[in-house]
Amino acid sequence: MATAYAQGNVNYGVIGAGIQGEKHIEVSSLAPNATLVAVCDMNEDRARSMALKHGAKHVFSDWQELLAVDEIEAVSIALPDHLHREVTVAALEAGKHVLLEKPMATSVEDAEAIVAAQKAAGTKLMINWSNRWMIAFAKTKEKLDSGAMGDPLYCYARLNNTTYVPTQMLSWAANTRLPYWLICHRYDIARWYFGCEAKKITAVSRSVVLKEMGIDTPDFYQVTVEFENGQVGNFESCWVLPETMPYMVDSKFQLICTKGYANIDPTPPVHQLATDDGYSHEGFLAANVMGQPVGFVRQAIEHFINCCVTGSEPLITGEDGLQITRALVAMVEAAETGEAVYL
Ligand SMILES: NC(=O)c1ccc[n+]([C@@H]2O[C@H](COP(=O)([O-])OP(=O)(O)OC[C@H]3O[C@@H](n4cnc5c(N)ncnc54)[C@H](O)[C@@H]3O)[C@@H](O)[C@H]2O)c1
Repeated sequence: MATAYAQGNVNYGVIGAGIQGEKHIEVSSLAPNATLVAVCDMNEDRARSMALKHGAKHVFSDWQELLAVDEIEAVSIALPDHLHREVTVAALEAGKHVLLEKPMATSVEDAEAIVAAQKAAGTKLMINWSNRWMIAFAKTKEKLDSGAMGDPLYCYARLNNTTYVPTQMLSWAANTRLPYWLICHRYDIARWYFGCEAKKITAVSRSVVLKEMGIDTPDFYQVTVEFENGQVGNFESCWVLPETMPYMVDSKFQLICTKGYANIDPTPPVHQLATDDGYSHEGFLAANVMGQPVGFVRQAIEHFINCCVTGSEPLITGEDGLQITRALVAMVEAAETGEAVYL
């Protein structure tokens, strides 16, 4: 019988204990084949409260101190998008396996440096495009691989956020761009389905709403990608939807194939909640049920932990991350210059 957890143990550290880092802390503390040893965040109070809650014995505000702990064999890095390179390269040089949050990097040079460090170290590196573990995306991949849908021709992918995300959730929104923050999830899925790389990218973006709020990052991107084998992907993303939306994520994915069509609505199920005080729609992309995290976020992190224990290759490697980064950087460049970028 297949088991969800490979036998063994990996001693684990998490660098970055923000919204996403907390998930890595929680999942690694619960996995029976991992031991959460340390938590690091520049906000030491935050790191300490996370360590106390999830049973880590070490707390650091300086990631170099965490990397100096010999017993730590693997780390998750969940720092803001633009801060991934230095810490990831140092972690790999320290001989750690690394689960790096998406996007891998915000420049091709950074991604290349990470891949070079991983090759030199020979340890595992996975980039956490966890949406591959969402049921609809995984099942569509199975159907494609079975041949039942024929060959993929075209995809339409939309992934939006409300203004809550760039104005309240992220203090560093101006340091990233939507291709790195959102489009990368859907580009990873499209590339996975198409099985080849981008060849030509055109894109437009506009800055109106967030600019007026003093946040220097475009409101939306519309990107067309032509792939090597002729497939076309249309990627759209904005983060200026009204906060009155029932959930902060709005998403759609359509895949047209020679013999099939997948129409995926990955927006989480929204339920109605009414009390004497008011009425709301609530949605959950990932949630805790009976005190345990459930769903794709947990599964992606556990996949990496299993790879550390067994020595097998993660589903999403550094090389995948580098190829994806090339496309994402080209999207930003195409939108800024108004010129097509050929890869
Ligand atoms: N895979 C996914 O679905 C998914 C979802 C959300 C976010 N992410 C990614 O996860 C990463 C983190 O995003 P987030 O939403 O948790 O951001 P966040 O702002 O909530 O958390 C970042 C944390 O890093 C800490 N930090 C910043 N610089 C540091 C440093 N030099 N040393 C130590 N700590 C430092 C901050 O104090 C903060 O607690 C981003 O790359 C983001 O794109 C991935």
